[in-house]
Formats: sequence, structure tokens, C-alpha cells
Amino acid sequence: MEEIEYMRLAIQLAKQGCGWVNPNPMVGAVIVKDGEMIGQGYHKKYGELHAERNALANCQTPPTGAILYVTLEPCCHHGRTPPCTEAIIESGISRVVIGSHDPNPLVDGKGIAILRSHGIEVTENVAKDECDKINESFFHYIQDRTPYVVMKYAMTMDGKIATRTGESQWITGEKARRRVHEDRHRYSAIMVGVGTVLADDPMLTCRLENSRNPLRIICDTGLRTPLQARTVSTTDTASTLIATAITDTNRHQPYLDAGCEIMVLPQKDNHIDLNCLMQRLGEKQIDSLLLEGGGTLNWSSLQSGIVNKVQAYVAPKLFGGSGKTPVAGLGVDHPEGAFLLSKPIITQVGKDILLESEVIWCLQES
Ligand SMILES: NC(=O)c1ccc[n+]([C@@H]2O[C@H](COP(=O)([O-])OP(=O)(O)OC[C@H]3O[C@@H](n4cnc5c(N)ncnc54)[C@H](OP(=O)(O)O)[C@@H]3O)[C@@H](O)[C@H]2O)c1
Repeated sequence: MEEIEYMRLAIQLAKQGCGWVNPNPMVGAVIVKDGEMIGQGYHKKYGELHAERNALANCQTPPTGAILYVTLEPCCHHGRTPPCTEAIIESGISRVVIGSHDPNPLVDGKGIAILRSHGIEVTENVAKDECDKINESFFHYIQDRTPYVVMKYAMTMDGKIATRTGESQWITGEKARRRVHEDRHRYSAIMVGVGTVLADDPMLTCRLENSRNPLRIICDTGLRTPLQARTVSTTDTASTLIATAITDTNRHQPYLDAGCEIMVLPQKDNHIDLNCLMQRLGEKQIDSLLLEGGGTLNWSSLQSGIVNKVQAYVAPKLFGGSGKTPVAGLGVDHPEGAFLLSKPIITQVGKDILLESEVIWCLQES
């Protein structure tokens, strides 16, 4: 097998940790000796052993003189587990092949330097782009300490996210909706505005087998979420956080009694302050967030500069009329004021199309 093939195997292993390791990165490792793979492993769950230690524990023969292929630079600090660099040095591995650099300030090249200082040969940047891709939310979170925000919506080919009567279930087909559920498993939280709760009463859970539910966040400045809303009455199934500007604890109590968490935030432009919300979520180790709001919250989120990526599912349908659009608000005055996105990646998902772009400029001049 070629070097890149071992790394791709390590990437496949890393992906098995998807949804379970947040706010840690997904990492996979493969150990090869005399052209034979003798061990493999991945980071399975937050707080548990890292990929390198799992791969070493899995070795069928002693790894002395072997090559370790690992998707991310090994850690060199004491966190919830001891440094992986120590385990690698003790194992007698003679060469380490790395995919991504770890921008965590506690690592950031120090892992590589320690290995080299112990005479271990290190090769960097093998399948780097592929390795980077699996950890885009980790790279953002570890540097910014706020969640990586993916703004997702489903729309018709005439750009509507609901009919003129406000109905939006369903616009896309089953395969696209399944993919959204995979992302609900992948990301730590899901966020909507109270407008979506009032219109659709969504569950916002992940309905796949062997999956986890994201933290459900409702942006609700004036506490208008009905106590009967499914997000409020099902906190035994998934956690719900209501972000509000209401400080009156008597008004919080019924939601607290229902098992919801209340986060009180300052206001900005008559709504809760989204930048403040992102800071507070970061402190709660929410590393990634799927924004499934309506057009009002989507616009504010873009304006606040909190959106990192846009996922537009486009269904081959037309609603016409005055149906809602994915990004509402005031809108920009001139084309040159547009929010700019990177060249989209286009994926066919069943009969629908998924367009994915990074937001490359998102702070509007006030
Ligand atoms: N097809 C899709 O992908 C999709 C997805 C979601 C929704 N929808 C459709 O969208 C429609 C609902 O649209 P919507 O615009 O009313 O829903 P929304 O954007 O989810 O909720 C808007 C509400 O969020 C509250 N909010 C709290 N903080 C905010 C902030 N910082 N900025 C902006 N708003 C904030 C505002 O009320 P307060 O400030 O008073 O709290 C606002 O009225 C429904 O018809 C639904 O079916 C479609």
C-alpha cells in the first residue's frame, strides 16, 4: 500500500468518531511495520484514549521500528488523557507521518518538535486537505473558542423556504433529510428562532439509529416559546436551551420545571445578542452548531458575522407567491454589499442538490 492509502485508511477510522468526540477532533491512526499493518485505532469518545494510544494498544506485534500514520499532529500536553507523544516515544516507533497540523495553542508544532527531538523521523502534510476537511469545526473552535456555525436551509428552485401559508414540511426528499440528520448527529447544537418554533413546532432531534441528539437552542428574546412546544415538553429525550433577554425569574420557572435551561443575554437591535450567545456557548464547550432557523435569524446571524458555512439544499420544485426566503431581514442595498461565499461544492442528494460554501466575508458595514 502507498503512504497516501494508509493515511486514507486512518481518515476512514477517524470518521467513526464523528459526533462522539466533540469538542475534540476526529483522529485516526494506522501502524505499519515491514509493509504490514500491525495496528489501527481512532479517538472513539470525548475523554477516552486518543487514536495513537488506541492504535498502539491494538498492535499485534511490537511496534519497535514501525511507522505511525496519524491524521492529526500528536498531542504533547496533559489533558483528560496523557500526551500521545510520550506513548509514541516509549513504543519505539521510528517514523511518524502526519496529515493535519494541530492549531491548538497547546500543541501547534510542539508535538512534532518533541518527536523529532527524540530522533523520530516526522513527515508532515500527507493528504493534508483530506485530513483538514474532517476537522473544520475543531480547527475553528480551538482557535476562536466559539462554535463553528453551519447555516442550513432547504429551498425550492425559486428560492422559497416555505409556502405563502408558512408551511415548509417537506421541501426536500428523504435522502436530503437523512443527510441533515447525519449533521444533527455530527454537530453539538442546533439553533432556531422562536418564529420557527411557533410556525412548525419542530422536534430538532436526530432520528438515526446509534446517534446522539444535539443541544436544541431557541433564540427567544421575549420568551414566547409555548410551554406545549415539543422542544420544551421532550427534554427527557434531548436538552433544550432557551436564549432570552427576559430577566424575570418567575417567567423562567415554567421552562426550568419542564427541564429546559435558560440563558439570559443582553439585547442588540431588539433581539438577543448573537455574538454574546456564541461566546457563552463556546464556554459550554459547544464547538459546532447547525443553524436551522428561518430567514429572520439567518439574516441576523450573517450580519453578526457568526456564520462560517452555508448549506443550501435545493429541491426541484417551485412555490411562487410570497413564500419566505432563506435570508430575510433588511437585505443589502447594493450588489457589492453582498455576503461573499466561496465557490460552492455541489452534491446530488437523491433528487435534490446540496450547495456548500464557506462564508469568506461576513461583517457588514453598519
Ligand atoms: N425550509 C427551511 O429550511 C426552513 C427552516 C426553518 C424555518 N423555515 C420556515 O421559516 C418560517 C419562520 O421564519 P422566521 O423568520 O419567523 O423564523 P426564525 O428566524 O427561526 O425566528 C425568528 C424569530 O427569532 C427571534 N430572535 C431571537 N433572537 C434573534 C436575533 N438575534 N435575530 C433575529 N431573530 C431573533 C425573533 O423574535 P424575538 O426577538 O421576539 O425572540 C424572531 O422573530 C416558517 O414558515 C418555517 O416553516 C423554513
